[in-house]
Amino acid sequence: MGSLTVSYTKPPPFCSIPSPSPVPEFKFPAILRGPSHSTVKFRAKACVFPATDVDNSGDNGYCGSNRRRMLISISALPFLFRLNQSVDEYCAKAAESDASTYVVIKDELGKVVTKAKAAGVLRLVFHDAGTYEKDENSGGMNGSIVYELERPENAGLKKSVKILAKAKSEVDAVQSVSWADMIAVAGAEAVSLCGGPTIPVTLGRLDSLEPDAEGKLPQESLDAPGLKQCFQRKGLSTQELVALSGAHTLGGKGFGNPLVFDNSYYKILLEKPWKSSSGMSSMIGLPSDHALVEDDECLRWIKIYAEDQNKFFNDFKTAYVKLVNSGAKWRSL
Ligand code: HEM
Repeated sequence: MGSLTVSYTKPPPFCSIPSPSPVPEFKFPAILRGPSHSTVKFRAKACVFPATDVDNSGDNGYCGSNRRRMLISISALPFLFRLNQSVDEYCAKAAESDASTYVVIKDELGKVVTKAKAAGVLRLVFHDAGTYEKDENSGGMNGSIVYELERPENAGLKKSVKILAKAKSEVDAVQSVSWADMIAVAGAEAVSLCGGPTIPVTLGRLDSLEPDAEGKLPQESLDAPGLKQCFQRKGLSTQELVALSGAHTLGGKGFGNPLVFDNSYYKILLEKPWKSSSGMSSMIGLPSDHALVEDDECLRWIKIYAEDQNKFFNDFKTAYVKLVNSGAKWRSL
């Protein structure tokens, strides 16, 4: 399995909405909820000035200050300063714990995700995250796919979930992990295993306890304008639609070696083999893949990625990170 960058980035602030989850939420230690260092500084300052030129009656409008209060505030500084140091320590520990959890997840995935299973695992990512609707702020990367496996569009994904369930139970024995994190990391591992880019995935997604709304994934019969609109509703651009569709290079749709993640998807799209009446060539790709080449804006990106695999890898990486963060609710830190 290819090496994966272990990175910890703080989840975006808008994502800190806790939702019910079997994964124990990080509780910010109560002790750290006290005033911050800067708050203490402000108080000390606000109390010092009136106290020098106003009497000590303590009834001025700002802080009712008197020397006693000032002394209490100042004497509290070393103690609160120690608390402030603890915030840094706490964050460092959280980052450290995520990094070690990442290693455990990666190890366990390494035991179950083979090249032959990589395509199914990567498809699972899109089917979990792809329910996201930006305007409704619904769906997204929340592990709800585990409740949606009977839906026709998810046919064939049960085996991928089963594979990951084995790895997840091993990880849970050490440190509980959400389905959403497990699937997000598994997809990145699948890509890297098959020779694609190394994709760093942030941990901390919370799982939904119910299925997402139905009918949010794009149908394979959509034309290019339909696909673009569908992706736009998920906050994904046309360029990201084209880059992410490159995932179809893995699996059995006829885009080069089914076990190798490379840019052959784009090279083959440009040849339009499905126009050929001869044998297997006409079977290559899905109607949605064929539609992309018929659209000028998509075609521009297809040509770029067909010529430059590095550019494809970089853009895929960026779009993948966006996809697995779509609609995610993050545990609070
Ligand atoms: C653009 C809209 C998309 C449509 C309409 C679509 C639809 C489909 C369909 C119908 C299949 C065939 C499933 C089967 O063989 O039973 C498939 C396969 C696959 N899809 Fe997509 N998909 C889309 C985008 C994506 C994205 C964004 C990803 C991941 C980032 C993805 C990953 C995959 C993979 C890896 C496979 C191969 C699975 C295998 O062979 O086991 N797809 N897709």
